[in-house]
Amino acid sequence: MVSLTTCINNLELKNPFILASGIMDEDAGSMKRILQEDAAAVVTKSIGLHERNGHSNPTFLELEHGLLNAMGLPNPGIDSYGSEIKKINNDNGKIIGSIFGSNVEEFEILSEKMQNYGVNALELNLSCPHAKGYGLEIGQDPEEINKIVRAVKQSVSIPIFVKLSPNVNDICMLAKAAEQGGADAIVAINTVKAMKIDIETKRPILANKIGGYSGKAIKPIGIRNVYEIFEAIKIPIIGVGGITKGEDVIEYIMAGASAVQVGSGIYYNGIQIFTQLKEQVIKWMTQNNYQNIKELIGVAHK
Ligand code: DHB
Repeated sequence: MVSLTTCINNLELKNPFILASGIMDEDAGSMKRILQEDAAAVVTKSIGLHERNGHSNPTFLELEHGLLNAMGLPNPGIDSYGSEIKKINNDNGKIIGSIFGSNVEEFEILSEKMQNYGVNALELNLSCPHAKGYGLEIGQDPEEINKIVRAVKQSVSIPIFVKLSPNVNDICMLAKAAEQGGADAIVAINTVKAMKIDIETKRPILANKIGGYSGKAIKPIGIRNVYEIFEAIKIPIIGVGGITKGEDVIEYIMAGASAVQVGSGIYYNGIQIFTQLKEQVIKWMTQNNYQNIKELIGVAHK
């Protein structure tokens, strides 16, 4: 029997597969549906203090090797989101509440409210690449990361994950700042800043011009970031970026991830991707004589 259970510090997961923030996670119905598949946890859409409509359309396009989006953090605001969280029956898995704020105080308020709604962990979005005043704009300063994580740690008792951006010079420095602030895990990576120009109209296609690139093309970037972060810190890493098949999961785990998130993979394969990944990972482990997924974490470093 192959064991897929994994632990992100003290958050136990029945397997390493987590729904990434930003896809099928705006309402309770779709998150419940994902938890009925073989996902061990779901991350909510990033929620801020107030309702936002996000950027104008077009906000999303499919490119040859990946997906480009600039949604602009659309969300109903934290006070309206409690009812959605409470509707999810989480007997099937864990709920990770994603929050974004523009300063320490906003993160404190959001984290306390999310905890009161009953989420099992928090993901601090310090990495959205295209929203003024949020995400990456504050998530590239190690001191700011440290201050936010420290404050949230004092406000709540649930585990805190910090999602970082690859659009920086030194992601390891940021991961260390989060670890020193008391983070329980690092989530790497968010989308890669990118653009598509329509050569007929001679204009960028996204209304916001610049967006975040995800999907198959960014997997090697994610793997490199997870590999380097693993050597820099001691807390667990959740790998994300370009996973569509079991071998991709194995690769992230060998690079140092204790679990993985899947977002764009749902666009390519549908929500059955979680069951597919589970079957493919079990098959690979059986063929390669591994009984426990934990034995594979970071083996590429040995
Ligand atoms: C959005 C994009 C991100 O990459 C992210 O981390 C959060 C939000 C967005 O455009 O809504």
